[in-house]
Amino acid sequence: MLGKLKMWKDKSKEFTKEDIMRGQIPNHIAIIMDGNGRWAKKRALPRSAGHHEGMKVVRKVTKLANDLGVKTLTVYAFSTENWKRPKLEVEYLMKLPEEFLGTFLPELIEENVQVRTMGDKSALPKHTLNAVENAMNETRNNDGLILNFALNYGSRAEILGAVKQLANDYKNGTVDLDCLNEDGFSTYLMTRNLADPDLLIRTSGEIRLSNFMLWQLAYTEFWFTDVLWPDFKDQHLLEAIKVYQQRGRRYGGV
Ligand code: FPP
Repeated sequence: MLGKLKMWKDKSKEFTKEDIMRGQIPNHIAIIMDGNGRWAKKRALPRSAGHHEGMKVVRKVTKLANDLGVKTLTVYAFSTENWKRPKLEVEYLMKLPEEFLGTFLPELIEENVQVRTMGDKSALPKHTLNAVENAMNETRNNDGLILNFALNYGSRAEILGAVKQLANDYKNGTVDLDCLNEDGFSTYLMTRNLADPDLLIRTSGEIRLSNFMLWQLAYTEFWFTDVLWPDFKDQHLLEAIKVYQQRGRRYGGV
C-alpha cells in the first residue's frame, strides 16, 4: 500500500513547458550538480556510475533549457578542489567531457547549442582539452543556448587571476583605476562575455556555494533541492523556474 502511495503522483501539481513559458525565463541558469556519489552508493554501484548517469542528465537539461529559451546554462563539472579525489575518480571525470561530446555533439550542433568552458584549461589532460576545444570550435558560430562547462573552475582562483591581470594592466598603464567600475572588473573574469546567472540550482540537499561564481551570483535567485543530480528530471527544472518566476527581484531596491 505504502509503495502504491509513494508511486502516486499528483499530475495537477506538475508544470508544463507551456506554463513556464508564459512567465519570465531566466536568461542564465547555473547548476551545481551534486549527489552523483550518493546516487551510486544507494545502488551499491561505483561512484563512476553516478557520474555517468549525471552526464546523461546534463544532456536532458540542456535540451529542455534550450527549448524554453534559456540563453546560457553553466554547469559545474569539475572544481579546482576536485583534484583531491581519488586518482581513478579524477581520471574518470576527465574522460566524461570526451564521452559527452563524442556522443552528443552532433545533436548539440543540430540544436544550435554553443559549447564553452570556463576554468584553468592548462591543467586538463590533453584528451579532455582536445575534446572541449574541438566542440568549442565546431559550435562557435551557433547562436542558440550557450552550454558553459565549468571545468577545473574555482571562483577564488578566478578572482585572484583577475586581480593579478588588473595589477599588471595598471603597471603597464592600460587601466585607469579612477574609471574602473564593477562592469569593468567583470571583464577580467572568465565570464566576461556572459550575463550573471539569474537562477542557481544546487542538488542533493547541500546548501553552499563551494567556490562557484562568487562574484557573479551576487543577485542570483537560489533554488536548492534534495534530489540527487542523476535523479534530476525535466519536472525539477520546470519547478525551479516556476519558483524563480514567483520571486520578486529588487537588487537592493524596494
Ligand atoms: C558532485 O557529485 C559532482 C561532480 C564533482 C561531478 C559532476 C559531473 C557530472 C554531473 C558529469 C557531467 C560531466 C560532463 C562533462 C557532461 P559528488 O560526486 O560530489 O556526489 P556526492 O556528494 O554524492 O559524493
